[in-house]
Amino acid sequence: MNLSEELEERALRESRALLAREVPGTDFHALCRWLRHGFPRYGWVGVYLLEGGTLHLAGWDGEHPTEHTSIPLGSGLCGLAAREQRTVNVRDVRERPEYLACFLETRSEIVVPIMDGATCLGEIDIDGPQQGAYDASDERFLERLSKELVHRARSVLERAPWRA
Ligand code: SME
Repeated sequence: MNLSEELEERALRESRALLAREVPGTDFHALCRWLRHGFPRYGWVGVYLLEGGTLHLAGWDGEHPTEHTSIPLGSGLCGLAAREQRTVNVRDVRERPEYLACFLETRSEIVVPIMDGATCLGEIDIDGPQQGAYDASDERFLERLSKELVHRARSVLERAPWRA
Protein backbone atom coordinates (compact mmCIF):
# COMPACT_ATOMS: atom_id res chain seq x y z
CA MET A 1 0.00 0.00 0.00
CA ASN A 2 3.06 2.21 0.25
CA LEU A 3 2.22 3.48 3.70
CA SER A 4 4.41 6.44 4.60
CA GLU A 5 6.25 6.44 7.91
CA GLU A 6 4.23 9.43 9.02
CA LEU A 7 0.95 7.67 8.31
CA GLU A 8 2.20 4.52 9.98
CA GLU A 9 3.14 6.39 13.17
CA ARG A 10 -0.21 8.16 13.19
CA ALA A 11 -2.08 4.91 12.68
CA LEU A 12 -0.19 3.25 15.52
CA ARG A 13 -0.95 6.18 17.83
CA GLU A 14 -4.63 5.98 16.91
CA SER A 15 -4.76 2.22 17.45
CA ARG A 16 -3.19 2.60 20.91
CA ALA A 17 -5.76 5.26 21.80
CA LEU A 18 -8.61 3.07 20.55
CA LEU A 19 -7.43 0.06 22.55
CA ALA A 20 -6.92 2.20 25.66
CA ARG A 21 -10.47 3.60 25.47
CA GLU A 22 -12.06 0.14 25.56
CA VAL A 23 -12.67 -2.09 28.55
CA PRO A 24 -9.92 -4.74 28.82
CA GLY A 25 -11.11 -8.07 27.46
CA THR A 26 -13.31 -6.43 24.81
CA ASP A 27 -13.10 -8.32 21.54
CA PHE A 28 -11.44 -6.90 18.43
CA HIS A 29 -14.46 -5.69 16.44
CA ALA A 30 -13.76 -1.98 16.93
CA LEU A 31 -10.12 -2.38 15.97
CA CYS A 32 -11.10 -4.30 12.82
CA ARG A 33 -13.66 -1.66 11.91
CA TRP A 34 -11.10 1.10 12.42
CA LEU A 35 -8.54 -0.69 10.23
CA ARG A 36 -11.01 -1.42 7.46
CA HIS A 37 -12.31 2.12 7.34
CA GLY A 38 -8.85 3.69 7.59
CA PHE A 39 -7.19 1.66 4.86
CA PRO A 40 -9.03 1.35 1.54
CA ARG A 41 -7.28 -1.89 0.53
CA TYR A 42 -8.23 -3.64 3.75
CA GLY A 43 -11.47 -5.13 2.43
CA TRP A 44 -12.13 -7.62 5.19
CA VAL A 45 -10.29 -7.49 8.51
CA GLY A 46 -10.37 -10.12 11.23
CA VAL A 47 -8.49 -11.09 14.37
CA TYR A 48 -8.20 -14.78 15.22
CA LEU A 49 -6.96 -16.05 18.58
CA LEU A 50 -5.29 -19.40 19.06
CA GLU A 51 -6.56 -21.80 21.70
CA GLY A 52 -6.14 -25.56 21.79
CA GLY A 53 -4.78 -25.85 18.26
CA THR A 54 -7.67 -23.87 16.75
CA LEU A 55 -7.85 -20.27 15.59
CA HIS A 56 -11.05 -18.60 16.82
CA LEU A 57 -12.47 -15.45 15.25
CA ALA A 58 -12.39 -12.76 17.96
CA GLY A 59 -13.54 -9.77 15.93
CA TRP A 60 -14.01 -8.82 12.29
CA ASP A 61 -15.28 -6.12 9.98
CA GLY A 62 -16.26 -6.48 6.35
CA GLU A 63 -19.21 -6.60 4.01
CA HIS A 64 -19.90 -10.24 4.76
CA PRO A 65 -19.33 -12.60 7.68
CA THR A 66 -16.95 -15.50 7.10
CA GLU A 67 -17.98 -19.12 7.51
CA HIS A 68 -14.47 -19.75 8.87
CA THR A 69 -15.05 -18.67 12.45
CA SER A 70 -12.73 -21.40 13.67
CA ILE A 71 -9.76 -22.71 11.71
CA PRO A 72 -7.61 -25.68 12.74
CA LEU A 73 -3.92 -24.85 12.94
CA GLY A 74 -3.27 -27.25 10.07
CA SER A 75 -5.54 -25.40 7.60
CA GLY A 76 -5.44 -22.39 5.36
CA LEU A 77 -3.15 -19.42 5.10
CA CYS A 78 -4.26 -18.55 8.62
CA GLY A 79 -3.01 -21.88 9.94
CA LEU A 80 0.25 -21.45 8.03
CA ALA A 81 1.03 -18.04 9.57
CA ALA A 82 0.32 -19.30 13.09
CA ARG A 83 2.25 -22.56 12.64
CA GLU A 84 5.28 -20.94 11.13
CA GLN A 85 4.94 -17.82 13.30
CA ARG A 86 5.58 -15.49 10.39
CA THR A 87 3.75 -13.04 8.19
CA VAL A 88 2.15 -14.65 5.15
CA ASN A 89 1.56 -12.13 2.36
CA VAL A 90 -0.11 -13.65 -0.69
CA ARG A 91 -0.34 -11.67 -3.95
CA ASP A 92 -2.89 -13.99 -5.52
CA VAL A 93 -4.79 -16.46 -3.37
CA ARG A 94 -5.68 -18.47 -6.50
CA GLU A 95 -2.07 -19.61 -6.68
CA ARG A 96 -2.12 -21.09 -3.17
CA PRO A 97 -3.68 -24.52 -2.80
CA GLU A 98 -3.91 -24.21 0.99
CA TYR A 99 -6.05 -21.06 0.73
CA LEU A 100 -9.43 -21.43 2.45
CA ALA A 101 -11.90 -19.45 0.37
CA CYS A 102 -14.18 -17.06 2.21
CA PHE A 103 -15.21 -14.39 -0.29
CA LEU A 104 -15.50 -14.68 -4.06
CA GLU A 105 -13.85 -11.31 -4.63
CA THR A 106 -10.69 -11.95 -2.58
CA ARG A 107 -7.42 -11.91 -4.53
CA SER A 108 -4.85 -10.87 -1.88
CA GLU A 109 -4.50 -11.89 1.72
CA ILE A 110 -2.05 -10.95 4.46
CA VAL A 111 -1.87 -12.77 7.78
CA VAL A 112 0.32 -11.44 10.59
CA PRO A 113 0.87 -13.41 13.79
CA ILE A 114 0.38 -11.83 17.21
CA MET A 115 3.46 -13.01 19.09
CA ASP A 116 3.89 -12.96 22.86
CA GLY A 117 7.60 -13.75 23.03
CA ALA A 118 7.89 -17.18 21.40
CA THR A 119 4.17 -17.94 21.76
CA CYS A 120 1.68 -17.23 19.00
CA LEU A 121 -1.54 -15.83 20.54
CA GLY A 122 -3.36 -15.36 17.26
CA GLU A 123 -3.21 -13.22 14.15
CA ILE A 124 -4.52 -10.33 12.11
CA ASP A 125 -6.05 -11.52 8.82
CA ILE A 126 -6.79 -9.09 5.98
CA ASP A 127 -8.31 -9.80 2.54
CA GLY A 128 -8.64 -7.53 -0.45
CA PRO A 129 -10.09 -7.74 -3.96
CA GLN A 130 -6.99 -6.38 -5.78
CA GLN A 131 -4.10 -8.61 -6.77
CA GLY A 132 -0.86 -7.76 -4.93
CA ALA A 133 -2.69 -5.40 -2.58
CA TYR A 134 -0.15 -5.53 0.25
CA ASP A 135 3.52 -4.64 0.23
CA ALA A 136 6.40 -4.46 2.69
CA SER A 137 4.94 -1.32 4.30
CA ASP A 138 1.74 -3.22 5.18
CA GLU A 139 3.84 -6.05 6.60
CA ARG A 140 5.84 -3.65 8.73
CA PHE A 141 2.81 -1.69 9.92
CA LEU A 142 0.75 -4.77 10.76
CA GLU A 143 3.69 -6.43 12.51
CA ARG A 144 4.09 -3.33 14.67
CA LEU A 145 0.34 -3.19 15.26
CA SER A 146 0.30 -6.87 16.27
CA LYS A 147 2.65 -6.04 19.15
CA GLU A 148 0.09 -3.55 20.43
CA LEU A 149 -2.50 -6.32 20.53
CA VAL A 150 -0.69 -8.75 22.83
CA HIS A 151 -2.19 -7.46 26.06
CA ARG A 152 -5.73 -7.42 24.67
CA ALA A 153 -5.27 -10.84 23.10
CA ARG A 154 -4.26 -12.28 26.46
CA SER A 155 -7.35 -10.88 28.15
CA VAL A 156 -9.74 -12.11 25.43
CA LEU A 157 -8.09 -15.55 25.56
CA GLU A 158 -8.77 -15.68 29.31
CA ARG A 159 -12.43 -14.99 28.63
CA ALA A 160 -12.55 -17.35 25.58
CA PRO A 161 -15.94 -16.03 24.34
CA TRP A 162 -16.10 -18.76 21.64
CA ARG A 163 -16.61 -21.35 24.40
CA ALA A 164 -19.84 -19.70 25.56
N1 SME B 1 -8.56 -17.32 3.77
C1 SME B 1 -8.19 -17.75 5.10
C2 SME B 1 -9.40 -18.10 5.92
C3 SME B 1 -9.99 -16.95 6.64
S1 SME B 1 -10.93 -15.94 5.65
O1 SME B 1 -10.05 -15.25 4.70
C4 SME B 1 -11.70 -14.81 6.56
C5 SME B 1 -7.20 -18.90 5.03
O2 SME B 1 -6.82 -19.32 3.95
O3 SME B 1 -6.80 -19.39 6.08
